[in-house]
Amino acid sequence: MTVRAVVRGVGHYLPERVVPNAEFEKSLDTSDEWIRSRSGIERRHFASGDETTSKMATWAAERALKNAGLDAADLDAVILATSTADLTFPSAATMVQNALGMRNGFAFDIQAVCAGFVYALTNANALIVSGQAKRVLVIGAETFSKIMDWTDRSTCVLFGDGAGALILEGVEQDGTTGDRGILATDLHSDGTYRDLLYVDGGVSTGTSGVLRMEGKEVFRHAVEKLAQTAHTALEKVGLGADDVDWVVPHQANIRIIQSTAKKLGVPMERVVVTVQDHGNTSAASIPLALSVGVERGQIKTGDLIVTEAIGGGLAWGAVVLRW
Ligand code: UT7
Repeated sequence: MTVRAVVRGVGHYLPERVVPNAEFEKSLDTSDEWIRSRSGIERRHFASGDETTSKMATWAAERALKNAGLDAADLDAVILATSTADLTFPSAATMVQNALGMRNGFAFDIQAVCAGFVYALTNANALIVSGQAKRVLVIGAETFSKIMDWTDRSTCVLFGDGAGALILEGVEQDGTTGDRGILATDLHSDGTYRDLLYVDGGVSTGTSGVLRMEGKEVFRHAVEKLAQTAHTALEKVGLGADDVDWVVPHQANIRIIQSTAKKLGVPMERVVVTVQDHGNTSAASIPLALSVGVERGQIKTGDLIVTEAIGGGLAWGAVVLRW
């Protein structure tokens, strides 16, 4: 018998405010047509008022707990993937822990930018299979609207805010690829690419800074590295593209999603796409897409899913799981 980290619940939260592409035409030399055709994005949600990263994470977590039929007291750990925590410290994860009324266990943030959720899943899986935790709340939550340069048309039209959450639970399985739960993970980073995608502020500058990106270069790395890591993760457990029911990619750009699916050999009918509605929500994009995919009736129990993501660092990776 093998203990696997099985998804027991899922939920998400999106800010009330929806901003269509046309809104940017008022202040920037851009157009709905350019944004749609170059990125696939049609609208995004922007946080306002009390919609902070930790609050959106909490609301997504409450929905995932409800979906799982569990209380916060049933959790052993909270892992929150984010690059936009409310404060430098404490971690946004401990704020979520407090807001949920969870007095036991432990909570921490993971910062791997857009790859944050695959890093968080990998860490949650390690805690569960090693017996250090039975149930882990894994969240991706971001307020990238707080780190935009609103005069830079090449970045500010691409990002959005939101949160998604999964509850993972250790369940004894047969030890085969027919098992439910996380079957394989594959992580990478390469700090030599620091200047391709970064925020120009932090404790060294005394400002929170704004996002800077060499879009074309990141695009090139994304297409090459995402297909590779997804393929490697599948190969680790002897699976291939034909076994995959759903690719749930990081939602940065429809052209990256399409090229990666093509390289992987999975048709677009088997790819969950939410980029048109959410934009790029960084670490929140995969759990948002998983939750929306379930709501739409696309993802069902027993489906084999591959998630893959890349972002600042560069950091990238993939997770193979059976829902
Ligand atoms: O989450 C992980 C990290 N992020 C990504 O994965 C994003 C990766 N990159 C991309 O998605 C794409 O590179 C972009 C969507 C950012 C840009 O698409 P592109 O096809 O690579 O366009 P480009 O950067 O080559 O720009 C083409 C032109 C440029 O004009 P010139 O130099 O050809 O005259 C830009 O100045 O489009 C211009 N441009 C715009 N025009 C209208 C850039 N942004 C805009 C805009 N509206 N918003």
